[in-house]
Amino acid sequence: MKMTEKSRGINYLFGYYDGMNPNRARFTLANRGMVAPKIETACELGFGRGISLAVNAASGSGKWVGTDIEPAQASFAQSLVGHLEDRCEVYAESFQRFNENPAITQFDFICLHGIWTWVNDKDREAICEFIDKKLKPGGLLYISYNALPAWTNFLPIQKLLTSYCDYNRSANKSGIDNLTDSFKFAEGLLNTNPRFLKANPSMGEIVKKIQAKDSEYLIHEYLAADFAPMTFDTMSSWLSPLNMTYVSASNFLHDLAPINLTTEQQEFLFKIKDPVFQETCRDLMVNKDFRQDYWIKGQTPLSPYQKEQALAEFQLILTSNKEDIKYSVKGALGDAELESAIYDPIIELLRDHRAYGYKEIREHLQSRGVDLASSAEALEVLFSMGHLNVISNDADSDAVGEGVAELNDKILNAAFNNMDIGWLASPVIGGGIAVSKFNQLHVRGKKLGCETGVDYAEHGLNFLKKMRQKIIVDNAPIDSEKRSMEYLEKHAEQFLEKVVPIFKALKILT
Ligand SMILES: C[S@@+](CC[C@H](N)C(=O)[O-])C[C@H]1O[C@@H](n2cnc3c(N)ncnc32)[C@H](O)[C@@H]1O
Repeated sequence: MKMTEKSRGINYLFGYYDGMNPNRARFTLANRGMVAPKIETACELGFGRGISLAVNAASGSGKWVGTDIEPAQASFAQSLVGHLEDRCEVYAESFQRFNENPAITQFDFICLHGIWTWVNDKDREAICEFIDKKLKPGGLLYISYNALPAWTNFLPIQKLLTSYCDYNRSANKSGIDNLTDSFKFAEGLLNTNPRFLKANPSMGEIVKKIQAKDSEYLIHEYLAADFAPMTFDTMSSWLSPLNMTYVSASNFLHDLAPINLTTEQQEFLFKIKDPVFQETCRDLMVNKDFRQDYWIKGQTPLSPYQKEQALAEFQLILTSNKEDIKYSVKGALGDAELESAIYDPIIELLRDHRAYGYKEIREHLQSRGVDLASSAEALEVLFSMGHLNVISNDADSDAVGEGVAELNDKILNAAFNNMDIGWLASPVIGGGIAVSKFNQLHVRGKKLGCETGVDYAEHGLNFLKKMRQKIIVDNAPIDSEKRSMEYLEKHAEQFLEKVVPIFKALKILT
């Protein structure tokens, strides 16, 4: 079985991708004026280390199923979700075998992140067959892939790296060594000042930048036997025959015209009536490199009245600290400022991290002179920036709460095996939230009864000693115990003041 052969046996990174959180998906669809399916059954294809699968399965009452061809990854994912019993099923089957597995029924939501670009056409056909057979009518698809045009100039370099590895394969060399050598080789070649570099001057910097990333990531990402970034219309030619219709990017910031397109570009696109061709042209305008999209099997648009009704059913919670919210967003046109007259009243209202009804927030903003269109956009911008989350219908379920608590303990304890999984699950938002290594250390400390900053610092130092790890500041390790204690104590004070209230609201802490 040929696939990303150089990556076989090498585990992928830990990652949680919130486009696969069913609650976030439903809120996005409502904002796009589409009927969203009720997501009771969901499936993730190629789940890697299984963090998204485990977190989403634990934090909601729906059933999740997933497959990944790499048995070590499937077994790790199984170890995370074993306690969820029939709420999560893990398979170590290829997409082809999974297609034929009679135990697999139909789903409301199918997701795949970081797969499509790195498999061959046979696998893509198997994925499409799966979507065709196993996604229910009205069902939702989340799919991500490397896009053209942005990857065009990199393709010869990617080929150079894989060819180098093929020519220099040796039993005495690990995959990681081979990878490192291939990058050195590419750099050496570019140092000879080839005409390719003259035509693509940014390539030298790009190769340097990429090399600095994690080896496991690089092997999966750049040494895959198959690497096929594609344009939006090519993607559409795979999905449209399955009666799939494009809905939107999973993250609204990618679609928000004023931060991505000039007025001239917006006017140019407006004249293109075919939505697929329009999107393909738009990708050229923004030089799109990665797409994370929702597609639906048979779309049902909502009338403006129904859209308001659908949105009114959501409750939102602020999951960032007021002081950590920057009033700036990045788009293809650069950084854009957020208007404090619109954003201040939202953050002021939600700063206590309680759940607020969508309608209630809009009414509050209206009373502050913010019109309805601006308030809807602002809420979606904060949601897309990750500061706002949607309250799950299972927020108060004891069974879900227990499943989450057990998963979070497993994630926290993975640190004792040098595995830093940077997310914890929350039953309140039905998904995951990023939690840094130090905040995870403090969560463990709190569960063990730490109270003061000094308690947390002692607990933290104890962990670091056991694991023979040091605190790194400005790329240099802190060698003195006293300075490590000071650092940890200060960090813990911030944790107690800023993070604990949010984690309590999210039921990550009691
Ligand atoms: C780049 S990784 C992405 C993993 C995960 N979705 C993530 O983003 O963290 C690609 C994953 O697809 C899996 N995979 C590749 N080809 C497959 C196939 N034919 N059948 C099932 N899984 C496959 C690999 O084992 C790997 O875990």
